[in-house]
Amino acid sequence: MMIRRMVQAVVVGVAVFSVFGGTDVKLMKVNRALTEEARGCIDCHAGKTPGIVQDWRKSRHGHVGVSCVDCHSVTADSPLASQGCPGVRNTGTWVTVVVTSKACSKCHPAEVQQFSASGHFRAASQIAGKQSMQDLMYKYEGQNHPQFKSGPKETGCIQCHGTTIKLGADRRPLPGSWPNAGIGNVNPDGSVGNCSACHTRHRFDIAEARKPAACASCHLGPDHPDIEIFTNSKHGQIFATEGDNYVYDTTPDAWEPGDYRAPTCAVCHMSGIGDLKTTHNVSSRLYWNLWAKESKPRNSPDPTSPLTGDAAAGRARMKKVCSNCHTPLHTDGFFTQADKLVKLYNEAYYKPSKRMLDVLKDKGLLRENPWTDPFQIAYYHLWHHEGRRMRQGALMGGPDYAQWHGTFEVMQRLYEMKAIFKKRLQTNKIEP
Ligand code: HEC
Ligand code: HEC
Ligand code: HEC
Ligand code: HEC
Ligand code: HEC
Ligand code: HEC
Ligand code: HEC
Ligand code: HEC
Repeated sequence: MMIRRMVQAVVVGVAVFSVFGGTDVKLMKVNRALTEEARGCIDCHAGKTPGIVQDWRKSRHGHVGVSCVDCHSVTADSPLASQGCPGVRNTGTWVTVVVTSKACSKCHPAEVQQFSASGHFRAASQIAGKQSMQDLMYKYEGQNHPQFKSGPKETGCIQCHGTTIKLGADRRPLPGSWPNAGIGNVNPDGSVGNCSACHTRHRFDIAEARKPAACASCHLGPDHPDIEIFTNSKHGQIFATEGDNYVYDTTPDAWEPGDYRAPTCAVCHMSGIGDLKTTHNVSSRLYWNLWAKESKPRNSPDPTSPLTGDAAAGRARMKKVCSNCHTPLHTDGFFTQADKLVKLYNEAYYKPSKRMLDVLKDKGLLRENPWTDPFQIAYYHLWHHEGRRMRQGALMGGPDYAQWHGTFEVMQRLYEMKAIFKKRLQTNKIEP
């Protein structure tokens, strides 16, 4: 099915756009004619920051007349109200460079609501809430250096997770927290979320967000190699051979098989397909928590819970995605295989290693600095790197990650831990 975007515009001062996607009709009111002020921003910025204006012109927003002021202007009483832009200095106009999810929610409330119910919502706040993470960032990676200890956090963690954005006296963001491309920023206006994490500014393009690259800038590497797993999967094989020819700009909820031959990340986790609706809640199609030390079925409506989601409903939704291209026999068989590996991880690897950890802790046989303790380092690698690869590899059809980067490594790690465990109990000492 290839229903291209259809927009009907009636221009009578205020334009009404009706967008037909699947069974939904969305109505959106936008002030279409650009005001003189709005034209002023564009004209000057076309010379000062041409890249921004070019992106905006080519965007859906540019086409329908949603302009700089719609996103960047704030009221004088906003905590973000500033006049860092020389074009508005000493005028009654206040702008901010930090365009938050609250600004988008003026026109896209449903997307913000769905995002706010997802695991992405907590991406920044959960780091701040964990002492072990604070220690990792500042005390160990930052070596408690008086001036430079926040370097690792600023160049690493917050560029994926986001952080609490801090403002200076002029109400412009400070370099300790900004710029950052993280997904779960806690914004000065009280909102949470960075809506340009997947559709980057100033295109804000659905086609970009539907491609695996939109997720890959964060979902990669030793501890959550989702793009690598995808590339290793049959779906990734097909994407690599003909993904350039997929049709990516079909109206939401009408983007269907035929536009693509195999699913991208977005198809399985977000997009409407068949009678499933598009969602910005990436947790809503999940059964397990696959990143935690032990995988448990999801059972909480609270986005700050590690178990956010509903296991049974999540699995049913994910199976609906598959049903567009596979038989129930295939899909059920696939999940039976994959779930078995998750359960093997829980029972044969996580639980025995946790029991050893607890015994050593009881007996005072763990080093205080976990990152100098071979037992604790092995434990960390077992669940945080290799154990995640094993579980995520199995559930997304990446056999190299389920096996060689996963189960095989976890097996080696368990034997390593057992040897250290035995030695420490025998000698009642931590080896030098
Ligand atoms: C749909 C909302 C939206 C529109 C429309 C929009 N912007 Fe932005 N703009 C953003 C977001 C989001 C950011 C990034 C905010 C952040 O990093 O905290 C941004 C960032 C910027 C920045 C800083 C970029 C940098 O890399 O230093 C400037 C300058 C800017 N916008 C100017 C403009 C101008 C000029 C226009 C009109 C041509 C415009 N914006 C239209 C949302 C918008
Ligand atoms: C006369 C030219 C001019 C006009 C008009 C203008 N700008 Fe700017 N704007 C600039 C320049 C130049 C900068 C970069 C300033 C700097 O050096 O920090 C800037 C910076 C910005 C920033 C970043 C602010 C910050 O705190 O760093 C935003 C957001 C922005 N402009 C939005 C707008 C919007 C919205 C309008 C229309 C209401 C507008 N601009 C009108 C020239 C202009
Ligand atoms: C003043 C209202 C308004 C604001 C504010 C606004 N948008 Fe939009 N947005 C629109 C309209 C209107 C459309 C086009 C509707 C359509 O074609 O269905 C649109 C379309 C989009 C699309 C679809 C683009 C495509 O390729 O079809 C995305 C993504 C998007 N907006 C994201 C954002 C984000 C992120 C923000 C905040 C940074 C934002 N918008 C702020 C009105 C707005
Ligand atoms: C390259 C991007 C990236 C960087 C850098 C990064 N993370 Fe993550 N982090 C992720 C992703 C993606 C997940 C989700 C994994 C999943 O769902 O399987 C995650 C998961 C987590 C979790 C588990 C989720 C939760 O709610 O508790 C914690 C804790 C965490 N990261 C902390 C950190 C800390 C601390 C740093 C810096 C020392 C950091 N991360 C650096 C991308 C990143
Ligand atoms: C995790 C990646 C991701 C993030 C973060 C994200 N989006 Fe999206 N967005 C997408 C994808 C993928 C689509 C296209 C879905 C589809 O296939 O139809 C999309 C589509 C949209 C659309 C077009 C939907 C329509 O029905 O016309 C809007 C509007 C939008 N996003 C706004 C937002 C806003 C507002 C936020 C911040 C709360 C946000 N997005 C954050 C990935 C993301
Ligand atoms: C800017 C970085 C970033 C981008 C881009 C991004 N994510 Fe994430 N994602 C994260 C982080 C960080 C987490 C971990 C949040 C937590 O658990 O605290 C996460 C978690 C998740 C989770 C698990 C949620 C849960 O409840 O445990 C899924 C599923 C997910 N992302 C899918 C996607 C998909 C699909 C895309 C692309 C359409 C995408 N993400 C784009 C950073 C990102
Ligand atoms: C064929 C569909 C499919 C594709 C394509 C796909 N995934 Fe997944 N993804 C799944 C399934 C199924 C699960 C496990 C769900 C469950 O818990 O039962 C999963 C799990 C995840 C998780 C783990 C969440 C947690 O609990 O830790 C993340 C993160 C994720 N996917 C991100 C991605 C990213 C990023 C891409 C693209 C690079 C992608 N996925 C491609 C189906 C898919
Ligand atoms: C848009 C269609 C589409 C969707 C949706 C889809 N797949 Fe596939 N899938 C394919 C195609 C095409 C192949 C390649 C078949 C081949 O190898 O001949 C494939 C291959 C596979 C394979 C490799 C084994 C085999 O039979 O080739 C597995 C496993 C798989 N898919 C599981 C899933 C699961 C699980 C889901 C849902 C979470 C899903 N797929 C969703 C199209 C799809």
